[in-house]
Amino acid sequence: MELLEKKIRQEGRVKGQGILKVDSFLNHQLDVELFEEMGKAFAKRFAGEGVNKILTIETSGIAIATSTARYFDYCPVVFGKKYVSLNLDEEIYSSDVYSYTKQQAYKIMVSKKYLNPTDRILIIDDFLANGKAVEALIDLINQAGATLVGVGIAIEKGFQDGGAIIRQQGIALESLAIIDDMSEEKGITFRDQSG
Ligand code: G4P
Ligand code: NA
Ligand code: NA
Repeated sequence: MELLEKKIRQEGRVKGQGILKVDSFLNHQLDVELFEEMGKAFAKRFAGEGVNKILTIETSGIAIATSTARYFDYCPVVFGKKYVSLNLDEEIYSSDVYSYTKQQAYKIMVSKKYLNPTDRILIIDDFLANGKAVEALIDLINQAGATLVGVGIAIEKGFQDGGAIIRQQGIALESLAIIDDMSEEKGITFRDQSG
């Protein structure tokens, strides 16, 4: 997606250890107009598939998910919770995520009320790196007996394994920008997805 790639070139900062900082529009300050365009793009790519629910994970996935949900007919957003709270229902699906970036495992949880066998679910998230967060969301969908329609990612880091692992399973994965290479010296190389 042209607009997102342009924004990444202008404002993205490559940090050591393969981390792209995009705090000015995606992870801290949020560019709402860009989010609307991303939402439209996801809705176009997954049109006609009967998506009736979007599943994401807190925190950064939520805003993109809500911008996307607007472009489907009645389509709530459900997000995996990382922190146990007193008011979370007792009946939950949970799955473990190992975060390579944080070098630690955590649980994500969704109330059983909000994932149903009749649901046709689109997963949305901001980044795809090793794919552990997406794998855990897929696990939750499977536990609920719901149907996974596909996965929409804003920025895929194509030099990490997540994208290949998900595509190998025959899952429809659409990333609006795929970074095949990046370094502080040479900048960012995007995969050409126009073909
Ligand atoms: P994985 O899910 O693909 O295996 O990724 P990993 O554990 O490595 O990522 C941990 C967190 O860091 C995730 O956010 C992920 O979205 C984010 N992340 C991964 N690579 C990058 C990057 O290059 N730049 C930025 N800005 N973020 C990256 P999270 O812990 O779920 O946090 P939140 O921001 O959604 O709260
Ligand atoms: Na995220
Ligand atoms: Na993040």
